[in-house]
This record gives sequence, C-alpha cells and structure tokens, in this order.
Amino acid sequence: MRLLLRFNGLRNAAIGGADSERWLCSPSSSKKLGFRCIVTSCRAVLLPRFGGPEVLELRDDANVPDLKPNEVLVRARAVSVNPLDTSMRSGYGRSLFEPLLPLILGRDVSGEVAAIGASVRSLSVGQEVFGALHPTAVRGTYTDYAILSEDELTAKPVSISHVEASAIPFAALTAWRALKSTARITQGQRVLVVGGGGAVGFAAIQLAVAAECHVSTTCGSESIDRAMAAGAEQAVDYTTQDIESALKGQFDAVLDTIGVLETERTGINLLRRGGHYMTLQGEAASLTDRYGLAVGLPIASAILLKKQIQYRYSHGIEYWWTYMRADAEGLAQIRRLSEVGKLKIPVEKTFPITHVREAHEAKDKRRIPGKVVLELD
Ligand SMILES: NC(=O)c1ccc[n+]([C@@H]2O[C@H](COP(=O)([O-])OP(=O)(O)OC[C@H]3O[C@@H](n4cnc5c(N)ncnc54)[C@H](OP(=O)(O)O)[C@@H]3O)[C@@H](O)[C@H]2O)c1
Repeated sequence: MRLLLRFNGLRNAAIGGADSERWLCSPSSSKKLGFRCIVTSCRAVLLPRFGGPEVLELRDDANVPDLKPNEVLVRARAVSVNPLDTSMRSGYGRSLFEPLLPLILGRDVSGEVAAIGASVRSLSVGQEVFGALHPTAVRGTYTDYAILSEDELTAKPVSISHVEASAIPFAALTAWRALKSTARITQGQRVLVVGGGGAVGFAAIQLAVAAECHVSTTCGSESIDRAMAAGAEQAVDYTTQDIESALKGQFDAVLDTIGVLETERTGINLLRRGGHYMTLQGEAASLTDRYGLAVGLPIASAILLKKQIQYRYSHGIEYWWTYMRADAEGLAQIRRLSEVGKLKIPVEKTFPITHVREAHEAKDKRRIPGKVVLELD
C-alpha cells in the first residue's frame, strides 16, 4: 500500500512499501531541511573496497540521507551499467573515492519520484522520471532509493520503458556536453564520431543528426547498419579500413570516445582550422590517482594546457577533454528526442539487481558488447 502525504518542508512524500523498504518522513532537527526522510531499510549495491565484481555487496540496510531542498528521492526501477561503474569499482578515481568508501555505484536511473525537497518545482511525487548523476557522485543509483538533484532529472518519455530510459541519460549527456556545450555544432556542419558503436558514440550520432549536421562515424562492422539507420552519412569499419583515407574532407567537430594515440592523431588531422577535437579520455582522474589530488590536478591542467597550445599552433584547432555534466536544457532535449524515437540506446541484456556481480563480470570480460541494465522491482 502507498499513501501520499503533504508536508511543509518536504513538499510531498510517499509512505509505505514492502518490509525491506519501509520509510517515513518526519520533522527534521534541521530547520533548513524542514523534514527528514527516515528509511529503515533500503537495498543498495555497496562498494566497500576496490576490486573485481566479487567486492560488490547487495545490502538491505543502506542509509538514505536527508533530502536537501533541491533534491529528489527516486524509487529506482532500472539503472544502467556504464563503463564508469566498472572502472570505479576497479579503483579508477581512487584518489577521490577511497576516503569515501563504502560508496554506491551507478549514474543512470529511471523510476518514480518518491519525495521532493522543499524547493523542487518541476517534478511531483508519483511522476515517472529519468536522469543521471554527476561522475563524482558518491551515493550512486544502484539502490531502490536514489537521490538526484532536480536538474539531474526530467519526466521519463511515456513511449519508452524504464529499462530503455535508464540506458540513455549518462551517455547522451556526455555527447551533449561535447557537441552542444563545447563545439556548439550547428546545422550543416560536418561531425565525426569516433566510436559510433558505443553508447556515447551512438547518442552523439543521433544528437548531431537531430541538429541537422552531416555525420560520419567509425565503428565495428556489426554497428555499421545501426549507425547508418540513425542518419550517419558514412560509417567506416575501424577494424578493416584506414580511417584517414576512408574519411575524406574536413570536419568541424570530432568527438573521440576511444581517445587512444591513434584516434587522437587521426581525429586532429581530419579537422578544419578552428574545428574542435574532444576526447572522453581526459587524464585528470588517472593523474590524480597516480600522484594524489594536490599534485595530480595541477599536472593534468598543465598537460591539457600544453596540448591546447600545441594543437592550436600546429593545426589551428581547439583541443578538449570532455566530461559528463548535468545539463537541464540538454536533458530536456534528450527527453524530447527519446519520446519521438530519434534518440535510442539499444539495451543488449538486463539483469535483476540481485545479479549485479554477474552483470559486472559480463562487462569486464566483454561477453556482452552493448548496454546492460539492472532491474529493481
Ligand atoms: N569523460 C566522461 O565523462 C565519459 C562519460 C562517458 C563515457 N566515457 C568513456 O567513454 C568511453 C565510451 O563509453 P560508452 O559508454 O560509449 O562505452 P561502450 O558503450 O562500452 O562503447 C565502447 C565501444 O567503442 C567501440 N570501439 C572500441 N574501439 C574502437 C576504435 N578503435 N574505434 C572505434 N570504435 C571503437 C566498440 O564498439 P564496436 O562494436 O563498434 O567495435 C565498443 O562497443 C568509455 O571509455 C567510457 O569510460 C567518458
């Protein structure tokens, strides 16, 4: 049974649920928060230490903190597995995350609003929503009750399921950040997506097509038909063809989701002067992991600046490390495109959240090439 109540501080809240997720809202000791959510037992996949899939622990006593005024409590129905989840589990970002263990993995979520903070205006309790957390969030989405800020969520398109919706936001917002916020692509421009077979690359193809750009991509042979069906004008198989000679002409923007030396060299050579090269493999996290935050961050900034100056001088292009970031306007456009079927990320396989270790192992061992989603019910 679920009961809806209205409070002053926490504007709406649902009370009830199964024994494993019983919770209620009560006045908080903090006047600022107004009300406090007390969750007696909420399932979550905890990461107590870095390692292989076996370190993941599904617990039913994870803490749900008080909602801040701009935050939303989401009853998660589906969460997708991103490469960031498996690499964080293995220790990527340890300079930032190690002191904060145990943490909850997961960035993407699709579910229903269970409660909202005092200043939330755009969402209401019971509404179906989807969205994604920032890459550095410590309390992730592999849990029955995820907490995101209002600008990290939007209404879920009614035309797609929670499983389909959960596959989209983190990847699509990363592509949005590169193409729209950094390169500011416009109608008629030529865009190259290196790695159009992956989730970010495929989202990038669809966003650039929706912006009426001419899109080329590199991907494996199995992804070529899908890239062309999504509107790419040229899809080059990186396993059998020489990319630079196959892709003629000059591009206004190159999004490199692979970001190895060879793709960086090729991408930069294919840009026109003034064009933007954006790699998803920025070195900030790996350098801070190696040297610590205090030394690693300045080294990363210096390396980025050196590359930016070097490429501006040698090729006349703009060089960027791209990182996913919440963007309410981007998420709204992603929702609109998903609603009408112009932005999809195919889901290869789903696992119940109880099989999270199996899902991570399958991704680690590359047994499943496409998107994997964890279901919570
Ligand atoms: N900086 C950030 O904020 C951020 C955000 C999201 C993701 N990322 C990173 O970006 C990368 C992609 O993420 P994703 O979610 O799209 O991963 P994904 O869905 O697992 O896609 C990776 C795909 O890249 C393709 N690929 C591999 N080598 C290639 C090459 N040399 N040329 C062209 N395509 C190649 C493969 O597709 P085929 O089947 O076509 O071979 C593979 O499926 C990951 O490394 C991830 O960690 C960074």
